[in-house]
Amino acid sequence: MKKRLYLLMLFIASIAILLGCTGDAAEKKEEKQVIKMATSADFKPFEFFDEEGNIVGFDIDLAKLIAEELGYELEIEDMNFDGLIGALQANRVDMVLAGMSATEERAQNVDFSVEYHRSGEMFLTTKDEAIGSLEDLQGKIVGVQLGTIQEEGADTLSEEYGFEVKKIDSANVLIQELITGRIDVAYLDKEVATGFMEEHDLTGFDDPTTASPGMAIAFPKGSELKEKVDQVLQQFIEDGTLDELKEKWELTE
Ligand code: ARG
Repeated sequence: MKKRLYLLMLFIASIAILLGCTGDAAEKKEEKQVIKMATSADFKPFEFFDEEGNIVGFDIDLAKLIAEELGYELEIEDMNFDGLIGALQANRVDMVLAGMSATEERAQNVDFSVEYHRSGEMFLTTKDEAIGSLEDLQGKIVGVQLGTIQEEGADTLSEEYGFEVKKIDSANVLIQELITGRIDVAYLDKEVATGFMEEHDLTGFDDPTTASPGMAIAFPKGSELKEKVDQVLQQFIEDGTLDELKEKWELTE
């Protein structure tokens, strides 16, 4: 009889502890405001993995400063560039910084902040390829990163200049394919291409045809975060914080 009572009390006590714990956890979750950010960390100097496996770069610093200013904690998730817009649309993440160009087409599905950087496009080749103009691309295999504006641009240009377009998930793999000769040319963001060019002793030429829109932070449609972030971003543009970051990561502009 005593034993039963003892067991019953033990049971009640454990339930109480359990309830207490979950209650605590729920409270904590509410206290801690987290911004879930997604990126595609294959885009140095905007976002890339350093030697210790941390995601670093201009976009990452910018996101951290914004989160800090707004009093949020920042959580960063890496995914394929091609999946970023879908993640926003499904509300799986709160914002995206990924060197993403604020195109009108994308703006139908996501909201964009004010623009924070501008870049162009470049064609990269190994030094043994004699490619210096759009006309030289005839019959070549040009690689692009899937889901980027360069994919779309290459599709259009390929009709006029007669080259084949190969679509690749990651910008790092794109460069590996170039170095190992599985593609003849890589077509990508100029700022990023310049870095790869120096790192792997490549050569290349600027795309004379493009005028791509600037990069911006993307949010799910109707996100309340956008306005707050825009305010901070505007402040960073005015007080020189953004320029300092650009200097740190050696962005040209
Ligand atoms: N600016 C280009 C675009 O928006 C390429 C961005 C690729 N970004 C990346 N993190 N891989 O389509």
